[in-house]
Amino acid sequence: MKVTVVGAGAVGASCAEYIAMKNFASEVVILDIKEGFAEGKAMDLMQTASLNGFDTKIVGSTNDYSKTAGSDVCVITSGIPRKPGMTREELIGINAGIVKSVSASLIEQSPNTIIIVVSNPMDTMTYLVHKTTDLPKNKIIGMGGALDSARFKYRLAEALECPISDVDGMVIGGHSDKGMVPLTAKATRNGVSVSEFLTGERLEQVAADTKVGGATLTGLLGTSAWYAPGAAVSELVKAIALDSKKMFPCSTLLEGEYGLNDLCIGVPVLLGKNGIEKVVSIELTDAEKAKMQESAEGVKKTNGLLEL
Ligand code: LAC
Repeated sequence: MKVTVVGAGAVGASCAEYIAMKNFASEVVILDIKEGFAEGKAMDLMQTASLNGFDTKIVGSTNDYSKTAGSDVCVITSGIPRKPGMTREELIGINAGIVKSVSASLIEQSPNTIIIVVSNPMDTMTYLVHKTTDLPKNKIIGMGGALDSARFKYRLAEALECPISDVDGMVIGGHSDKGMVPLTAKATRNGVSVSEFLTGERLEQVAADTKVGGATLTGLLGTSAWYAPGAAVSELVKAIALDSKKMFPCSTLLEGEYGLNDLCIGVPVLLGKNGIEKVVSIELTDAEKAKMQESAEGVKKTNGLLEL
């Protein structure tokens, strides 16, 4: 499998690193507009290959899309990241122009590619790729829920004082501080509902901490996070490479599922060689349905800022 990652910043480099470390791709191309930057990141990462034991070839490119030709999956991380105090929605003006031109250049070289959108505001950027390209909907995937769910599991394990591998849980809805819907009532510890161990109040705190997961890190780091976003992308790409049909919450175009239409928002999907193989419909409680509806309204409001 050939993978392109556009943007050699912290998130893009972290995507490339985790994809290479997992050793399922033959080639990863990193592309950036900054002269020599992607080549430098690629060379540095290649020099970890003998140390970390991977055979993936990593190639850098300064804005030369011909090097991305024939990519099976392209990941778009380009655009400006959040600064402390900024919302993801505030990035729309600059990032919409970038995501539109990057996706067009990628598809010119790889007409059959699957695109994974990471740039923020992610759900709206994913919708923009639908509106401005001819790719079928199964080939356009927004990465948010996999990351938000990882942050949810981290917060659950912290509250439960247990290893993260003991907990399971999922965050659906928009990838925004207000829009995320952590499914606390469905979260489990070794198959047992977490409500057996945590009070409703503590669970509400877990949900609140999860929703501001990105903003908390932006405050600490001065820019947005990269390790967990990179790791989340690498898991989505791996599920596609291995055709594993693994379930992740991803932003996808909804056409009636969950009672929603004409927007991209995070819902559980199965990932395989065709990208999104299936949108999984799960039964939501009335409270979860109301939160999902509110989240969708927020995403649609941001979509309304696009100049389509
Ligand atoms: C975050 C960015 C990647 O949540 O949206 O850290």
